[in-house]
Amino acid sequence: MTKGGKNKKIINIAVLVSGGGTNLQALIDAERSGIIKSGSIKLVLSNNRNAYALTRAENAGIPHDCITKSDCGGDVKLFEKRLMDRLDEAGTDLIILAGFMSILSADFIEHYRDRIINVHPSLIPSFCGQGFYGLKVHEAALEYGVKVTGATVHFVNEIPDGGRIILQKAVKIHDGDTPEKLQKRVMKQAEWKILPEAAEIVSAELLKGKEDH
Ligand code: GRF
Repeated sequence: MTKGGKNKKIINIAVLVSGGGTNLQALIDAERSGIIKSGSIKLVLSNNRNAYALTRAENAGIPHDCITKSDCGGDVKLFEKRLMDRLDEAGTDLIILAGFMSILSADFIEHYRDRIINVHPSLIPSFCGQGFYGLKVHEAALEYGVKVTGATVHFVNEIPDGGRIILQKAVKIHDGDTPEKLQKRVMKQAEWKILPEAAEIVSAELLKGKEDH
């Protein structure tokens, strides 16, 4: 029996991570508090053995695994094949990229068309695309002198940060901000809120599709 009643269908979520996993933690907390109710995190996969996100998954009792490119002798195709096998084995319906620092190939994206979402720490279409990741995004925003930045959750397609936008939230830039300070504020005020909300929106939509079958 699953939560919500007998035989209630639910969306199987897999979260892909590479680092600290604060976005993963926001998703775990949101499932616990009921913000995410149409889906459940069934798997956490990391491409970095030292990612603290793996400890967060362990602490939450969520099955987790690490698959690195170097384990695959640097062969990107093999790396993605192993990821896909693991994801399919877990019956994954929705993939959430939460600080996952590896660009996925067109084949991978096609395999999970409209079932991969990502959080990006700016208001797309500003400061996004090739080369804009991590602190670089916030450095670019400060360098440009914008007064407002934020975060975006979007579907993943073949264009880096180019898929359909699901949610955005603006965050003010303060005088004296450093990239590090800004990164923390954007996470706290935007990413940790809109990623769980978007996860629920997409899970609910996918669930409708599942129940119609
Ligand atoms: C976040 O800023 C996310 O937007 C970016 O990488 C960071 C990941 O942080 N892509 P965490 O691993 O979720 O703590």
